[in-house]
Amino acid sequence: MLRQKNSINHYFVLVVILIATVLYLQYSSENTTAEDFKCLKCHKGKDSLEKYVYEKNIKTAEELRALIRKGPKAGLHVTSTDADIERAIIYLNLK
Ligand code: HEC
Repeated sequence: MLRQKNSINHYFVLVVILIATVLYLQYSSENTTAEDFKCLKCHKGKDSLEKYVYEKNIKTAEELRALIRKGPKAGLHVTSTDADIERAIIYLNLK
């Protein structure tokens, strides 16, 4: 009786570890791809996104979306997808 209970506990622990591993791998792969979204192909070094956000005084996610889509440089960003902009918002920690 007691033995059976213990073996159930062992399976339970294994399942929990398995789920935790899967979740961790998913999380870490999201983190690595966040570093190489398309914006960074053009925006690196002295043209970094951080620099533009600082210079243009961009404080919110909405300001960034508007500047990319409707600002004077919108023409340079026609190839940028909405997903890229959302990645940039996360990367820049805008709210
Ligand atoms: C094809 C290359 C390219 C890509 C991809 C690109 N940009 Fe740009 N971006 C530029 C260039 C070129 C400028 C103008 C630089 C200047 O003003 O000298 C610019 C300007 C900007 C500016 C300043 C806008 C302004 O009105 O002055 C911001 C902010 C910006 N980019 C954000 C982004 C974000 C966010 C992404 C990804 C969604 C992105 N860019 C993708 C080339 C690119």
